[in-house]
Amino acid sequence: MNFRDTLNIGKNGHLQIGGVDCVDLAKKYSTPLFVMDEAYIRAVARAFKNTVETTYGYGGVAYASKAFSCKAIYQVMKEEDMNIDVVSAGEIYTAICSGFDISRAYFHGNNKLVSELEFAISHDIGHIVVDNLEEVDLIDMIAAKNHVVQKVLIRTNPGVEAHTHSFIQTAKIDSKFGFSIKNGDAKQVIDKILTKQNVEFEGVHCHIGSQIFDKSAFALAVDVMTDFIAQLAKENIKVAVLNMGGGFGVHYSGDDPKFDIAQYCDYVATLTFKLNECIKSKGIDKPYLMIEPGRSIVGEAGITLYSVGAIKEIKGIKKYLSIDGGMTDNIRPALYDAQYDAIIANKADQKGEEVVTIAGKCCESGDIIVKDICLPKAERGDIVAVFTTGAYCYSMASNYNRNTIPPVVFVKDGKSAYAVKPQNFEDIVRNDVEVKYE
Ligand SMILES: Cc1ncc(COP(=O)(O)O)c(C=O)c1O
Repeated sequence: MNFRDTLNIGKNGHLQIGGVDCVDLAKKYSTPLFVMDEAYIRAVARAFKNTVETTYGYGGVAYASKAFSCKAIYQVMKEEDMNIDVVSAGEIYTAICSGFDISRAYFHGNNKLVSELEFAISHDIGHIVVDNLEEVDLIDMIAAKNHVVQKVLIRTNPGVEAHTHSFIQTAKIDSKFGFSIKNGDAKQVIDKILTKQNVEFEGVHCHIGSQIFDKSAFALAVDVMTDFIAQLAKENIKVAVLNMGGGFGVHYSGDDPKFDIAQYCDYVATLTFKLNECIKSKGIDKPYLMIEPGRSIVGEAGITLYSVGAIKEIKGIKKYLSIDGGMTDNIRPALYDAQYDAIIANKADQKGEEVVTIAGKCCESGDIIVKDICLPKAERGDIVAVFTTGAYCYSMASNYNRNTIPPVVFVKDGKSAYAVKPQNFEDIVRNDVEVKYE
């Protein structure tokens, strides 16, 4: 865990987040429970924005809302004067419901549905990030119907592939996302956009991967993107916006670096430093810079609280602590072997005594949240806190096994409140109907 001012251990030995005792939270709201530290979210968002402003002076930050989407987070982003990245009509709808100005949104997706494009354009979406050739025709047609000219970026693939601790530069383009710069696909789609009456080419986008720690990957991507911008400039094609995506790595467990907010801003400064340098050396016009972090804004802000239920010891082999949630609220360990750190929130000041595996309650043997972790001796009813669950957990939650999706509570200055209320059994059967053939 990466402790901070708003995530620490209280005098009573309990874990505290946002000034609230996690054991009290578990009592008040029951478990499983997502808890989000609002002050931390706001602090990271502000720091990223401030870094773009002070080190580049012409740009913004779009929160990648796929990481965690609900009305309350869009309200926070609105108050923090942020842009957003959205990937579905559902996210757009949620943002609109929260009062977010959707003209500040970037709409992504490799297969945006016609209905989604219609919804987005008729609600005055700011930018659509084009990710296939046919989309250009569709946007042009729908924009014409709506009597608007739709601003677009194109999602490029710069051939920089990053995976957590390292990255590679590759000419091989094998991704469902983006147009390759190298093989000419990116230029081809721009040429197509430039023939359209109701589509306006605004700029280029790339997103080189997620959970990236090696900052030089971002610098390399800036180099490739500015080469492309320079190439386009030679053909009098102006790139007004450069969107460099997200992907900043956060601390989950083990050897992952533990950054404070200032250190997180180094990711942004690496990008802007390189961009300033490339603008000068390549003689290109200064583009409006957008970045799209998701995980680094909400990931470490979130913890999940669970109650320990059954404890099963297989003598000499393993001890399982079963919790009251699992892959329905955190699919990441099962999906891509994601590693997490956890403690017992009511024994947060006690030393680890035994190695256990924290198992979810779903009927899948892969439903394991943390493998082989050293914890104080646990008993039924103890509260387990799993760290860094703010990103891609609630947003990927499911009703598998007809489990209800846990509520989300925001905490701030010693207070707590629902951001998402708990589901109940009625919600589980809400759309089930008797089958009646006609
Ligand atoms: C286009 C785009 N932008 C931004 C992000 C956010 O990435 P992260 O949450 O790792 O910052 C993603 C994540 O998949 C993405 O696909």
